[in-house]
Amino acid sequence: MTIRLAGKPVAEKIIESVSHTCKTSGITPGLAVIQVGDDPASSLYVKKKIEKTHSLGWYSEHITLPSNTQASEIKKTLDLLNKNAEIHGILVQLPLPAHLNSYHLLELMDPAKDVDGFHPNNMGKLLCGLEIIAPPCTPLGVMALLKHYNIKVAGKKVILLSRSNIVGKPMAAMLIEADATLIWTHINSQGVPALAKQADIIISATGKPNLIDQTYVTEESIVIDIGITKHQGKTVGDVKTSRVAGVVKALTPVPGGIGPMTIAMLMRNVASLALKKPIEV
Ligand code: GUN
Repeated sequence: MTIRLAGKPVAEKIIESVSHTCKTSGITPGLAVIQVGDDPASSLYVKKKIEKTHSLGWYSEHITLPSNTQASEIKKTLDLLNKNAEIHGILVQLPLPAHLNSYHLLELMDPAKDVDGFHPNNMGKLLCGLEIIAPPCTPLGVMALLKHYNIKVAGKKVILLSRSNIVGKPMAAMLIEADATLIWTHINSQGVPALAKQADIIISATGKPNLIDQTYVTEESIVIDIGITKHQGKTVGDVKTSRVAGVVKALTPVPGGIGPMTIAMLMRNVASLALKKPIEV
């Protein structure tokens, strides 16, 4: 029997608690999302983020810019948002069109409004093991889900498949800080199935449907699937469910696993920035 590590109910509880904390403090959190271009996946993610703020009665702005927008224009937008007292959290939806350098642009954001934890100051602090108010949402969501299901990482072998700036690097920092024994791989690593079989926990964020099959897992594996891809008309993760579900000890569903946890952590981060202190979840 495989335990289903559902994220949706956990995310709902977290959002409820964060919303309650904000109501008691009398502060209305404000989020601004900048989207450059109209990539369908990004549009869907941004819509979900904005809708969630609406459902909570929070303030939000969705700023859409054409795909040929120049860096100077985005700088102007960021300058205004940095000064806007109603906005506590700013998110630049990634990836940006190829002509834009995301890290130069993220650096222009006030680090105190960086809801993703992607500003180099914040990412640098995270790597140094220092507390930041708003750590990157997806890895934070993974840590919160593991905590909810009482899955300890200290001293455990955890294999991570991703070296992206959004997920892999901050995830690695959080796992190391939590005393995991990290096996860090990426899409070009060799011999990953054999390494994965040795791990207690497999965390995959490659965006490659069906990558994690029976050659990666054992009956003891706990599998966290961060991949979200449209494949043959369906939303799928990195795990080949037909070969892994029923075999492993525990598995996150896609959809309904890490996706809702990421949104919950975004709400937690906007609220934490508004309150100027990290909200415990
Ligand atoms: N694109 C995919 N995931 C994310 C995220 O967590 N934050 C931002 N800014 N862009 C993303």
